[in-house]
Amino acid sequence: MSRVVELKHPLVKHHMAMLRDKNTPTYIFRDQIRRLTLLLAYEATATLPVEEVNIETPLCNTMCKHITTRIGLVPILRAGLGMCEAVQELIPQAEVWHLGFYRDESTLKPVEYYQKFSEHPPEIAFVLDPMLATGGSAVEAVNMVKDWGAENVSMLCTIASPEGIEKVQKAHPDVSIFSCAIDEGLNENAYILPGLGDAGDRIFNTL
Ligand code: URA
Repeated sequence: MSRVVELKHPLVKHHMAMLRDKNTPTYIFRDQIRRLTLLLAYEATATLPVEEVNIETPLCNTMCKHITTRIGLVPILRAGLGMCEAVQELIPQAEVWHLGFYRDESTLKPVEYYQKFSEHPPEIAFVLDPMLATGGSAVEAVNMVKDWGAENVSMLCTIASPEGIEKVQKAHPDVSIFSCAIDEGLNENAYILPGLGDAGDRIFNTL
């Protein structure tokens, strides 16, 4: 069953305030994205399947659980890269498959410029993009990940707009969306309000 989850934890609220602040310098902005992604990934991975494994402690044998399912992280270039290491820290065995889209500023539509998937898709995929704005690149990314063969796909974002959520849900009702915040909506340039500005520029200091 798919879900739309907005994190309500006080730590998320606290770190979001610093992330949104236009005076936050790049190096702190990157740290904030990382902290928020750790909290987001913790929530988004709560239903991962686990298998029983016998472990020998220094004292005795005991049954434990581990994750054996192949998991793919699909950061949408370039801003999604800012989230990737935080998820890898929690799931070190995850594979990372990059997808590149840029936004055509005249049509505001996503244009793919990079994709290199292997023959063997992961069973579970997490698409990473800090800003779910119009939902155009998110829908395209999920199309590509599903065409590739991943069965279970979720979106992880820092801020989502109601318009973006609706677009993804319409195209992919089976896809769960996890976001640190759901904002008011988009402005005429398809930026999220109140948002945080351009996430890629703020992560990579290219303002
Ligand atoms: N992408 C961004 O980086 N910010 C927005 O507000 C919308 C899309």
